Amino acid sequence: MKPPKPKPRPDKVSLWRYMQMFRRDILSAQPERLYRAKMAEFRTPFFRSYLINQPDLIREVLKERPMDFPKSTRVGEGLRPLLGNSVFLTNGETWQRQRRIIDPAFEGGRLRDVFPAMRAAGLDMVTRMQGQTAEQEIEELTSHAAADVIFRTLFTIPITDEIAGQVSEEFRKYQRSQPILNLAAFIPMPKWLPRFHKSGVRKSAQIIRGLITELTKRRMAEIENDTAPDDLATKIMTQKDPQTGQCFAVDEMVDQVAIFFLAGHETSASALAWALYLLALHPEAQAKVASEVASLPDVPVFSDLSKLKYTRDVFREALRLYPPVPMVVRETTRPEVFRKRALKTGAQIVISPWHLHRHENQWPKPDEFDPGRFSSEVGKKCLRNAYLPFSSGARVCPGAWFAMIEGPLFLALLVRAFKFSTVSGKIPVPEAHLTVRARHGIWLRIEARG
Ligand code: HEM
Repeated sequence: MKPPKPKPRPDKVSLWRYMQMFRRDILSAQPERLYRAKMAEFRTPFFRSYLINQPDLIREVLKERPMDFPKSTRVGEGLRPLLGNSVFLTNGETWQRQRRIIDPAFEGGRLRDVFPAMRAAGLDMVTRMQGQTAEQEIEELTSHAAADVIFRTLFTIPITDEIAGQVSEEFRKYQRSQPILNLAAFIPMPKWLPRFHKSGVRKSAQIIRGLITELTKRRMAEIENDTAPDDLATKIMTQKDPQTGQCFAVDEMVDQVAIFFLAGHETSASALAWALYLLALHPEAQAKVASEVASLPDVPVFSDLSKLKYTRDVFREALRLYPPVPMVVRETTRPEVFRKRALKTGAQIVISPWHLHRHENQWPKPDEFDPGRFSSEVGKKCLRNAYLPFSSGARVCPGAWFAMIEGPLFLALLVRAFKFSTVSGKIPVPEAHLTVRARHGIWLRIEARG
């Protein structure tokens, strides 16, 4: 059975209708032809957007000439009250300096150190769920667990800590009112028009930033007293920029913590929830995962992850079919020619992992769930050319390694403890909000595995 996909809109609709549909959900506002097209143009009165769906063009934008295609300022606008000057929103020299400080903390080798904190969050999730087996909305559970992972790995505090709990609660309110992809990338608004953020969004952002500032200041004091734990926050706050010798000031660290929390927990929660749904829909794949994870020790160690090959491929396939970040947007800084089309300065370039991952000319059986595809030569080629859940190039997600440890580990711990099956009449319809979520949540029947 094919996993659910949003019903595309008719090929031709008026701009007004498109905007209305877009406001409801970015994915169902797109036409079917984007699963076949190499490039598509969207005209608005003030600027043009171009969706590019061709691997060599995407490579040119993201990998070969990233500085010529900075992040679109239209897209991040809505997130500024929360994220300030975070690495997710900056461009140019500021962004390069921020990445020089952040990247070392997320290198593969350093992540071995955060594994025990991730595992503790995973084992706690299993314990929490033991008492509540029945029909469950799973996104709620995965969001809670992914937030726990971020607090434990970043600040060595569990989600049950008072401040961690408050931050998490405020983020839930924020998330309901603020999409990660701001409408401004697609709808006809001139850049000079002032942006007004809803007062609820501003208030939530202020509260979250106040709480994160408290955590960061506390950590700064611990670093000065030599009593700080060796976690990601300490690593990042003591990392000097190799070029200037400077560390992040408190304010700039608050901006980064906000994005780690936002980018790091929403995405992982979405991927894990869809992966569990896919396993429920495909019991034979779930049985394969269960047999792979049966040999894990009660408390797995980092090196056990290398035994989870099939489980990792299930997680990869979930990221292909339901990429948590469905689109990324860049901007031209000079006139360009793409596929013989002239693009003006300031044009929006939309790269859509959602469409690329299901592109009919790139992937065999693009809408089918097949974790085995990554073992074939064709599958490996697709991975290189048409697979972008973490984007790629200079602005690739710094948390990609982190997420590829967390996802398979959580799947393994959960499938070892529970059997997941679908609930009749509850088919989740994907929609893009802060990340790709299901319109009415993802409902699963959960039973303890005997
Ligand atoms: C399954 C999990 C994840 C997915 C699918 C994902 C995906 C992405 C994507 C596609 C981008 C590029 C966005 C763009 O260019 O517009 C990105 C950027 C980013 N991600 Fe992740 N991410 C995940 C987990 C994480 C984690 C765990 C962290 C940190 C703890 C993280 C931190 C960031 C940051 C800081 C950026 C901005 C990088 C920059 O612009 O230079 N992400 N992520």
